[in-house]
Amino acid sequence: MKKMETERLVLRKLEHTDAIDVFEYCQFEDIVDMVGMRHHNSIEFTNKYINHELSKSETLAIVLKKKDKLIGTISLRETQNDSNLDIRLLSAVINPIYWGNGYAPEAIKEVVKFAFEIEKVHKVLGGHYSFNNQSGSVNKKLGFVYEGRQREVYIYKGKLVDAIEYSLLFKDYEEASKKW
Ligand SMILES: CC(C)(COP(=O)(O)OP(=O)(O)OC[C@H]1O[C@@H](n2cnc3c(N)ncnc32)[C@H](O)[C@@H]1OP(=O)(O)O)[C@@H](O)C(=O)NCCC(=O)NCCS
Repeated sequence: MKKMETERLVLRKLEHTDAIDVFEYCQFEDIVDMVGMRHHNSIEFTNKYINHELSKSETLAIVLKKKDKLIGTISLRETQNDSNLDIRLLSAVINPIYWGNGYAPEAIKEVVKFAFEIEKVHKVLGGHYSFNNQSGSVNKKLGFVYEGRQREVYIYKGKLVDAIEYSLLFKDYEEASKKW
């Protein structure tokens, strides 16, 4: 993805100097497991994570303009399907210190706009574990369309959990973005 900007945020490539800010929240299993990531047990692991993400260009740092601080990441990942449709999986994670300020929705709107208007993708997926009400709230606020519940497709803390699936097609994006 390319560099983007919103009112309060800069979305840009990860840099190695971001390692401390990334480690600050990725060390917590509860936070990163929600987006299917392994938690970071050292800064070295965080640096490997940054290298991995830089090699794929699917993830951007979410940087708070007023502090010039990385407060999370946002990813738009390619998915595989038999019809070769361009369907991308959107996910975001915000450092819990900054939760509840609308930063994830602000970043997601810009990335969804990029996905449909620049990349011309067919569909954007946004799912979450069934108990993840915060993510569910963000999906609903942004007008993502509920697709359904996949039963027992993940294991979280040793327990099977359902996945709640949301998505946007271009026509949904056109409608939803009128209210953004
Ligand atoms: C989901 C997430 C990205 C939302 O980021 P955010 O910038 O805080 O988004 P918002 O400010 O819109 O807040 C979302 C909701 O969380 C609620 N919230 C904020 N802090 C909270 C807390 N400590 N405990 C519970 N809910 C909280 C807000 O009240 C808001 O609910 P509302 O929309 O009904 O008012 C963030 O919670 C997060 O990083 N979670 C862990 C990773 C994850 O679950 N990612 C999504 C799956 S892809």
